[in-house]
Amino acid sequence: MKRRLEQIKEFLREKLKPTRFEHVLSVRDTAMNFATKYEVDLRKVELAALLHDCVKWIDDKILIELSKKYQIKLDQIEKENPALLHAKIGAEYAKDHFGITDPDILNAIRNHTTGAKRMSLVDKILYVADFCEPKRNYQVAGDVYKIAEIDLDSAMLEVARNKIIRQIEDNVLIHPNTIDVYNTVLRLLDKKREK
Ligand SMILES: [Fe+2]
Ligand SMILES: [Fe+2]
Repeated sequence: MKRRLEQIKEFLREKLKPTRFEHVLSVRDTAMNFATKYEVDLRKVELAALLHDCVKWIDDKILIELSKKYQIKLDQIEKENPALLHAKIGAEYAKDHFGITDPDILNAIRNHTTGAKRMSLVDKILYVADFCEPKRNYQVAGDVYKIAEIDLDSAMLEVARNKIIRQIEDNVLIHPNTIDVYNTVLRLLDKKREK
């Protein structure tokens, strides 16, 4: 197990740009902090976090080729916004190259960018940690980190809300999963408040 982790880290150190590699390690530390807090399997969270951006070094054209190789169905928004491709392809790559078969790990990698209507605790931890790890240079990251230490669903709402705002400001397409996360978590939090 330890050897596999070392192998993965070596691979990432070699392939990713240094800033991306630092981001990955910071997501790992952040996600493991949340996993400890919410009593989620640390082994799953560590692997999902380390591998979440494992194809970020591959350019868009090759990613499109890989999506065909892995028979991944891309939706229209993913086709128009290749930055989204690395999540679904990253999961298949992790299976193919590192022998990851645990669906909890693979789904967390798949869902880390857009989120999804239904998300497990591992998914949520990675989605939030990727957004708020301390090396992120936007102001709101620190706030989200603090919120996540108190309530993970409230942090989820902040992440989805900020992604939507940023995408509107940047004039880029919004993936429907991001809206689904926003709506689902908002309803859930309202229900919690009513109790
Ligand atoms: Fe990513
Ligand atoms: Fe990331």
